[in-house]
Formats: sequence, C-alpha cells, structure tokens
Amino acid sequence: MKKPILLYGATGYTGRLIARTAKTRGVTLRLAGRNAEKLRVLSQETGFDWTAFPVSDGATISRALEASALLLSAAGPFSATAAPLMDACIAAGISYLDITGEIDVFETAAGRDAPARQAGITIMPGVGFDVVPSDCLAKHISDRVKTPVRLVLGVKGLGMPSRGTGKTAVETLKTGVRIRKNGVLTTVRPGSLVRDLDYGLGDGAERHVAVPWGDVSTAFRSTGIGDIEVYFPATGPVMALARLGHWLGPLPGLPPVQRFLKAQIDKRPEGPGAEALAVDNATLMALVTDADGTVVKSRLETPNGYTLTADASLKATAAILQNPVPGYQTPATAFGGGFLDQLEGCRLTDL
Ligand SMILES: NC(=O)c1ccc[n+]([C@@H]2O[C@H](COP(=O)([O-])OP(=O)(O)OC[C@H]3O[C@@H](n4cnc5c(N)ncnc54)[C@H](OP(=O)(O)O)[C@@H]3O)[C@@H](O)[C@H]2O)c1
Repeated sequence: MKKPILLYGATGYTGRLIARTAKTRGVTLRLAGRNAEKLRVLSQETGFDWTAFPVSDGATISRALEASALLLSAAGPFSATAAPLMDACIAAGISYLDITGEIDVFETAAGRDAPARQAGITIMPGVGFDVVPSDCLAKHISDRVKTPVRLVLGVKGLGMPSRGTGKTAVETLKTGVRIRKNGVLTTVRPGSLVRDLDYGLGDGAERHVAVPWGDVSTAFRSTGIGDIEVYFPATGPVMALARLGHWLGPLPGLPPVQRFLKAQIDKRPEGPGAEALAVDNATLMALVTDADGTVVKSRLETPNGYTLTADASLKATAAILQNPVPGYQTPATAFGGGFLDQLEGCRLTDL
C-alpha cells in the first residue's frame, strides 16, 4: 500500500486548511501534531488517520516517519519545530517540506544540505505563500537580464494574518529587519529603510517599509543575487511592528515582552474566514537591476496567501514525491520559475 504524507501541525489554522484541501483533491494524509484531542476531531472530519507526538519525542517521530512517504510541516513558529523534524527526516531518509517564512529556519535548512544529499532526501522549507510565489518570481525576473545584481520585492494585499503568522512575526522583533547586502544577511533598524513602489495597477506609488521576509535567504540561493530587500506597504500592523522595533530596540525581543505580545494575538480571530480565503488576493512586485544599470519589473497577482499556501504546499509535496531533488532546495532551485504556472489563480505580468 502507498505510504501517506505525514502532515505535522495539522491542528493549526493553516494545517487544517491543507488537510481539507488534500481531502477534496483525493490526496491521502496522516495527520500529526502534539495535541491528540485536536487531532481526533480533525480525523473525524477528514477521515484521515492520526498520530500524536511532540517534536522532542525522537523514537515516536522515527516510527511515524518509517510509515510515511514524506513529512510536510505546518507547525510554527518553526524556530521551535523545524530543526528536530529535519534531523529526524535525514535519519529516516524521508524528505522534509514546511511552510515557514522564517529567515533563520531557511538558513538552518541550508546548513543541512550535505547530510540531506547523503541521505538522498529533499529539505525544502517555504512551500507556502512565503516563499513559493516570490521565489519563482525572483527566478523568473532574474532570468530576464544578463547579470542581475539587485532584487527588490514588494508584497501587498496580504489581508488578515492568522494567529500563528502573527506570533511568528512577533518573533522577528528578536532579530530586527534583515536584508541581504553584498551576499551577507545584514540587520537594519526597523522602519529605517523605506521606498515608494508602484505595482502598475493604476493606483500609483505607495510608501513601503523593509520587512524581514524569507526571500532574503531563499532568493539569494535561487538567483545568486547578493543585494535583496523585501518591502510591505507602510500601514497597519507592519508599521506597529516597525515602530516597536525602531523605538524600543532589543526590548520587544525579551521573553516576557514576547509572551505578552503573543497573548494579545491569542485574543484575535484564528485566521481569515471562508469568504476572505475565496475572494481576497495579494500582489507581488519584483524589480531587478542588471550590472549595466537596466531595471526590469515583473508583477505577480495571487489568491489569498493561505489559499495559495494550501495549494502550493500540496503541489510541491506531489512534485517532490514524484521526483526527489536531493539536498537543500528552494522552490525555484527544485522546480524553476515556471512552477508558478501550476498554481491556481496566479497571473504573471512583465512590465
Ligand atoms: N509560508 C506561508 O506563507 C505561511 C502561510 C501560513 C502559515 N505560515 C506559518 O505557519 C505557521 C502556522 O500558522 P497557523 O496559522 O497554522 O498557526 P496556528 O493556528 O497557531 O497553528 C500552529 C500549529 O503549529 C503547532 N505548533 C506550534 N508550536 C509547536 C511546537 N512547539 N511543537 C509542536 N507543534 C507546535 C500547533 O499545535 P497545537 O494545535 O497543539 O497548538 C498548531 O498545530 C506559522 O509559523 C505561520 O507563520 C506560513
């Protein structure tokens, strides 16, 4: 019998969305997570089998992996879950994919390239909204010029974040805003790097602020570009986080402050409702500078980030099961920029 895909963190907002999407597509999952009661409820709804274990329980993880074709993790913040699960996957010879957007998790995964190659497995974090569309867009646009030297990405229209996304964003206050400069991850003061971006949709240029987004890690490996910055519109919660980091320096990174901020997020709705998932959309803008000074622009319109995450994570999983690419991979190094064509509701425009 064909082994199922093990979905760890299945009980979260995004994990449940992935499980439900898999069910409608006829993909068989085995649900996993640390909370047996929540897993039992989701199993009753989806009909999928389940197993409960914490990421610290090496023996149970090994047994669960032996019975699985691949591990897809939706358990974040991934700072607490990714490393032990990646190591268990390397030991078991099973590919590891997750939906992180955390820069340090991408870097941790890249550091496991050699053992993953030796084990013949794929380690591919970031198979959600962050970073599949932006990584494929970065690859696409960098191929438009001869010698790409600088990448600027803008992302707008992300809508309401889930609680898990909010808590993960709060964790970025520990490390500040990171960009890539001359090939090196470099920290800048929150709110200090701003620029106006026009997505070419007729609504003019809008003030943006640099954010610590996963592409400063992944696009470097997908395109070889050494200068990378990612920007969000300078509004709402993005500016609230930027101001906290700007005025309070390292204070918001302290454990009691982190606990307080995460407790505030727990009072918010779990994530976008069904209507937002169906109708919201996001837009990404990429600008690449060639060594000769030429600047090219491409835009990508996508569905709601969570809808895209469920779609992209299942498609990436299917592609790796069919054709494993050993070692650490970004979506674009494994599948190329053309992977965008496989995603539902994405529209790419060269400007
Ligand atoms: N790449 C993307 O575009 C994208 C899209 C969506 C989400 N994400 C990321 O995915 C993560 C989950 O988001 P969400 O909206 O599903 O959040 P959520 O509703 O809070 O769910 C988090 C899930 O992770 C599990 N979990 C958290 N910490 C854990 C730990 N230390 N050990 C084991 N399990 C743990 C939770 O288990 P319990 O149920 O037992 O608490 C739950 O299943 C976040 O980091 C978010 O930023 C990324």
